[in-house]
Amino acid sequence: MSDKAVNNAPKLWAGRFSQETDALVHQFNASLSFDRRLWPYDIQGSLAHVKMLGKCGIIPAEDSQTIVAGLETLAADLETGTAALDPGAEDVHMAVESLLTQRLGPVAGKLHTARSRNDQVATDIRLYVKDALADLGGKAERVQSRLIELASQNLDTLLPGVTHMQHAQPVRLAHHLLAYFWMLSRDRERLVDAWKRTDMLPLGAGALAGTTFPIDRHFVAQELGFAGVVENSLDAVSDRDFAIETVSAVAILMMHLSRLSEELILWSSPEFGFVEMGDNVTTGSSIMPQKKNPDVAELLRGKTGRVYGDLTALLTIMKSLPLAYNKDMQEDKEPLFDALDTASISLSVLHTLLENIAFKIERMARALHGDFSTATDLADYLVRQGLPFRQAHEVVGKIVGRCVAEGRALEDLSADDLAEASPLFTGVDAPALISPRGSADARAAYGGTGKAAVEAQLERAQSWLEARRPAA
Ligand code: ARG
Repeated sequence: MSDKAVNNAPKLWAGRFSQETDALVHQFNASLSFDRRLWPYDIQGSLAHVKMLGKCGIIPAEDSQTIVAGLETLAADLETGTAALDPGAEDVHMAVESLLTQRLGPVAGKLHTARSRNDQVATDIRLYVKDALADLGGKAERVQSRLIELASQNLDTLLPGVTHMQHAQPVRLAHHLLAYFWMLSRDRERLVDAWKRTDMLPLGAGALAGTTFPIDRHFVAQELGFAGVVENSLDAVSDRDFAIETVSAVAILMMHLSRLSEELILWSSPEFGFVEMGDNVTTGSSIMPQKKNPDVAELLRGKTGRVYGDLTALLTIMKSLPLAYNKDMQEDKEPLFDALDTASISLSVLHTLLENIAFKIERMARALHGDFSTATDLADYLVRQGLPFRQAHEVVGKIVGRCVAEGRALEDLSADDLAEASPLFTGVDAPALISPRGSADARAAYGGTGKAAVEAQLERAQSWLEARRPAA
């Protein structure tokens, strides 16, 4: 086959043209290289469409049956690799139709009755996005389950909770991990939301204005599993808001993954030493023999930027486009697919990473020694004795200042030392008040880091997950 034949298959729209398309123009115009993955959805959409054409008497029932059978064998052959899309075709829709025509002859030409590539491509993408969203939901669920598992193993593990990256108050590791569980729960809700608005059929809009044939769009919607049909034909072919909403939800999801990744990167550094990643999920250095690098977590962090780029690309492609379809919209696919692919592998690899990490509980406990992270508890104690919080803050600030000057830790202070700072401390059980565990457990209010509160939270997380598990 000559290059020209590969690059420039006969066009199904060639009727009014007297010149062949310039090879470079063909290459520039073609989308098959990146829309080929839509073929199963393209065939699914065509099957529903042609059944409807037969049912409504728009084409003879026998023709409809012939085309249905042809599409079904074509799908099976493409699946097994017995058939292949012509790389010279302009796009996936043309490639599928050409194959069908080769097999069935002119009757295949009836498939495109009452349809345009504009409503066809919009349908294909929506079908694709619905599947991809369901896949992401399932993968996010696996990460959530793992987080719950790790949380239940670490109910009694304490570490310094930080604000501004400075030790603030002791928290349970379970509590910290569950924070990510809830982020992912909202991510999944956003994916479901995007799914709901994607779940509308554009097919039947024709090129833009609808069709002169007596089609039954609701039948097609039902065949394809759409909840309803897009009301307005112009809107149906010309909007990609469902793709933007999807990628937006995916970008937020990735933002969450990037934060967890960043923490795992920091925690695996020798300065923290809070976590050890398995050899199977880390990589070495080509020059420094001692290195064990958290590449997976770093890539998760990096790929988040890439997905933000996809979102920006989609928003920018769609900005200011006049109605209805414009070829600019062919550019929707690469960023959309890239974002979905990236999030899908990111969730899978994060799950693998979380299966292969060990928390260094001792290091976390040691990090709480002498870090003043229970200072708030001293102030809260004074408040319970009747001192206004601002004054209590001041008293404890002075205690901390003195400890720092003398090189002592809060936990070195005796009840007498405390009583010296304020008579309200007289007779206090200083170790209980100052210990990280006492501090954490004192935060018993709903949503706090106290043991009972975290146990209750863990149960609610489990119920959240159970309630959304698809019935088997
Ligand atoms: N490949 C095109 C796309 O993805 C399909 C729709 C083409 N429609 C047209 N009128 N040229 O947008």
